[in-house]
Parts: sequence; C-alpha cells; structure tokens
Amino acid sequence: MIKAAVAGASGIIGEHMVLHLARHPFFEVVAYGSSRTEPLKDRWMLPQGVDGLNDIELRPYSIQELADLGVRVVFSALSSPFAEKYELEAVSAGMHVISNSSPFRLDPEIPLIIPEVNKGIVDKYTSKLIKNPNCTTTGVAIAINALMNYGIDIKEIYLTTYQSLSGDSSLTAYNSFGNVIPYISGEEEKIVKELKKMTGIEIPVNVHAARVNVSAGHMESLFIKTGKVYSKEEVIAALENLQPVRDLPSSPSRVIKIFYEKDRPQPILDSWIDQKDRIPGMTVSAGRINVEQNVIGMFILVNNLIRGGAGGSILNGELLHYRNILR
Ligand SMILES: NC(=O)c1ccc[n+]([C@@H]2O[C@H](COP(=O)([O-])OP(=O)(O)OC[C@H]3O[C@@H](n4cnc5c(N)ncnc54)[C@H](OP(=O)(O)O)[C@@H]3O)[C@@H](O)[C@H]2O)c1
Repeated sequence: MIKAAVAGASGIIGEHMVLHLARHPFFEVVAYGSSRTEPLKDRWMLPQGVDGLNDIELRPYSIQELADLGVRVVFSALSSPFAEKYELEAVSAGMHVISNSSPFRLDPEIPLIIPEVNKGIVDKYTSKLIKNPNCTTTGVAIAINALMNYGIDIKEIYLTTYQSLSGDSSLTAYNSFGNVIPYISGEEEKIVKELKKMTGIEIPVNVHAARVNVSAGHMESLFIKTGKVYSKEEVIAALENLQPVRDLPSSPSRVIKIFYEKDRPQPILDSWIDQKDRIPGMTVSAGRINVEQNVIGMFILVNNLIRGGAGGSILNGELLHYRNILR
C-alpha cells in the first residue's frame, strides 16, 4: 500500500476524499490534516458508519510528521493561501502532492490533468506537484476534448455556468438562498486559461459564471461555433466516444452520459449517476444537444465535489501510480 495523507480533510472536498480513499485498493491514508483537532465524525456530512472512519482524529500535521509516518502522497483539499505554502513544503520534503486547490494551476512547470483529456502529459513533467482543474473547467474540458478528438473543427466557444453553492465554502445562506449571483470572482478567467492549457485550443472562449441556489452539481450551457456543419448524430457520437482510462480503479464506467429527455440533466437527479462505479459522480452528463447551421448547443452537468474535486484528484493519483511515477 502507498501511504497517503489528506490535507484539508475537514473541508467539503476533503471529506469526500476521505470517504473514497477509505477502501482504496492501493492508497492507505495515515494522516487526516486540518487546522482543528477534533474527531472526524463531528465534521462528517456524509453517511455515517463507513468502516474505520468513526475513530479518526483530525489534527494539524507538520510536513516533518508526515515524513515520519512514511507518507509518499499528499492529497490536498486545502484552501488558498495555506495550500500554496503547505503543498510546496511537502514537495520539498520529497512527497508527491495531488492537489485540488487553485494556486499554480497555470504555472507552466505544473501539470494540470484530467486523465481522459491529457493523461500523456504526466510523462513530460518532472514536477511532484500536480493539479486537477477548477470544477467548472473539468466539465467543459471533457466535452470539448471529446469533440476535438473526433475531429470537430471548433472556432469559438460561448459558455454560461450555473454553479452550485457547495463550490464556494465562503458563501452565506443569506446572500444565496432564492438567489442567482451573476459573478464569481476570478472564475471566468480561470476557466478560459485552464481550458486552453489543458486542450491546447487557441480560439476565443467567452464565459459568464453565475452562482445558483443548488446544493451540488454545476450546470454549463455551451454553444460552440464550428468551421463546418455537423449533424446532431455526429456530435453525440463524438461525446460518447470519449473512453475512460482503463486500469484506473476510480475511472467511471462511461465518461459522458447523454440524456435524450428534454429536461435533463438536472443537478438534483443526475449529479450522482452510475452508483455501481467505485466513486459515483465521476460521469459528466450532456443533454439538450442540438445543431443549428454551424453552431452546436448543449447543457453539461459536472459533479463539482467529485469529478471536479475529490474524485478528480484520486483519479490523478491512480494515473501517477500506473505510470510508475509515485516513487
Ligand atoms: N468545493 C468545490 O466544489 C471545489 C471544487 C474543486 C476545487 N476546489 C478547491 O478545493 C479546495 C478545498 O475546497 P473546499 O470547498 O473543500 O473548502 P473548505 O470546505 O473551506 O475546506 C478547506 C480546508 O482547508 C483547511 N485549512 C485551511 N487553512 C488551514 C490551515 N491553516 N491549516 C490546516 N488546514 C487548513 C480547512 O481546515 P479547517 O476546517 O480545520 O480550517 C479545510 O479542511 C480549495 O482550494 C478549492 O478552491 C473546491
């Protein structure tokens, strides 16, 4: 087993990491880091009774303590700016850091990875710090990559997001209940830059990001201008054609599920599909697919906590293991 730590285990992403690493076939979590010292079960927002988790103590861990415990991999769900300092210290001590947090995502030396989009890049970097993209970028990057792989000639992207409350732990119920907030600080710029870094696409990408009164699951309305006219069947075939990365235990059974009903996907119904997967919530959904002349339209739904968060990091850890990089 590979000894691992979860940094930020008391946060919403960290809790999901803890849950899904609890019975992992080759990662063994030996440290659950937090700024507070208290039993994990006092923080636990997820179903009770998962084997072994009730006795876990959260507490601050120094990097030296992690090293003394033999930790080789730190899964980081820390908020910035603490993430920046802690992750770099762990790397300096020789650990691999697989991080969800935003610092360094755009650094040219740091790989930004979704295995189904750009798994090959892990071999081109020497960095021990790797990142998964912003939760919203994850949904659009998976869809755009599927279209690009199929040879669809993309000329311009228009994206509007409807992002859930769990995507921002700083929001208060007062300003978000029954509301739509048409601004998320820094989000639109992040989505454009991360999408370009991951897919290599160099075209105009126009984004509006909004926070909506939904607990989990980010919806994204996508319009794509293309260089020629494609049929709806070709678009669906392209999306369905994106394959999970074989051998990774947390790969979903399918990367993109197509909904044909006119009112799907919906966050409340479809954020946790494919319950038979090791980690439910790893599949991205697409619906309302239509083509008008040279414009493709669709809605995307991505589970921000899982595919765009905890599950995305775990999948990246598995990728590094299978590429024999976690030494
Ligand atoms: N929520 C999402 O949908 C989402 C999706 C993708 C990426 N992300 C990114 O993932 C990271 C975590 O997000 P989140 O929503 O889970 O945030 P969160 O609920 O606020 O959790 C932040 C975690 O960081 C820990 N932390 C902060 N300062 C610390 C310190 N000085 N020492 C030790 N631990 C400290 C917190 O511990 P305490 O509670 O003990 O202070 C908590 O466990 C962020 O960087 C976020 O940008 C979030």
